[in-house]
Amino acid sequence: MKELPGDFADRYGPRALILGGSEGIGAAFAEGLAAAGLDLTLVARSAQALEETAAAIRRSHGVDVEMIQLDLTRADIEARAGEIVAARDYGLIIYNAGATHGVGLFLDQPVDHALNLVRLNCAAPIAFAHHGLAAMRSRGRGGLLIVSSMSGMVGSGYVAAYAASKSFEIVLAEGLHWELARDGVDVTCAVATLTDTPAMRRSGMVEIEGLVPMDAGAFAMNALDALGTAPVWYAVGEAVVEAMRAAPRTAATAHASAMSAQLWGMDADPDTAGR
Ligand SMILES: NC(=O)c1ccc[n+]([C@@H]2O[C@H](COP(=O)([O-])OP(=O)(O)OC[C@H]3O[C@@H](n4cnc5c(N)ncnc54)[C@H](OP(=O)(O)O)[C@@H]3O)[C@@H](O)[C@H]2O)c1
Repeated sequence: MKELPGDFADRYGPRALILGGSEGIGAAFAEGLAAAGLDLTLVARSAQALEETAAAIRRSHGVDVEMIQLDLTRADIEARAGEIVAARDYGLIIYNAGATHGVGLFLDQPVDHALNLVRLNCAAPIAFAHHGLAAMRSRGRGGLLIVSSMSGMVGSGYVAAYAASKSFEIVLAEGLHWELARDGVDVTCAVATLTDTPAMRRSGMVEIEGLVPMDAGAFAMNALDALGTAPVWYAVGEAVVEAMRAAPRTAATAHASAMSAQLWGMDADPDTAGR
């Protein structure tokens, strides 16, 4: 795994908070940051995964690793975010949790499925950004990295609410980058493409010939490199993003919907889907 610059801990230490830090991309962030000498606080729901990741990092890097078992979709997330941020000196907050688990037509799923994504990808990032950035602004340094998805680039059938919630994260980071730059606080949204994570393997995604998921470690280290360099960093590269932007919006939605159908083995025809 590539290394972070020598002054990374001075800029973003002494401790990083990783929301969704127990496995996959989140654990890769933890590994890279610990190697750079940062202490860590990892948040996730599964105590076992948290303990395994924390123990491995302590063994390899000797940094302090704290674990907080928490569901980020809780109704009192704003108060919990305030308590968590106030308890430690965080120079870096990474909001990584937020994948979709199971896809389907919007009306074929309970409304709570969509509302849960709003809590996970909109409400909780707002809560941690508000509390975290206020503390960083008062110190005149720090960073917030929010992990979004290429799904957030355009609307898509089968993941309508997920795509909308990931779009929220991109647009939120753009505005916050503009507002906080003058205070020495970096805000960047790192936009992932298909990435090999335990969650994705569990989600029922279909393996498609020729479609190779990105390595979680490579994504995490390149995203940390991009922190502060731009409001939004795309793992696929700017050329792919520019090509997507050049397509008419309805054509892009049709393409994204066909991709979603293919990835999860669903019907790609909008006239027969779900019938
Ligand atoms: N993997 C991909 O192909 C892909 C593609 C595009 C974008 N992304 C983005 O990359 C990020 C990471 O995705 P991922 O595939 O690793 O899956 P994920 O389900 O977002 O899991 C990542 C971490 O978040 C934690 N987490 C998930 N839901 C949580 C909740 N409600 N409360 C607290 N912690 C929670 C997980 O632990 P627990 O489950 O134990 O809580 C895990 O540590 C997401 O934002 C996703 O949108 C991923």
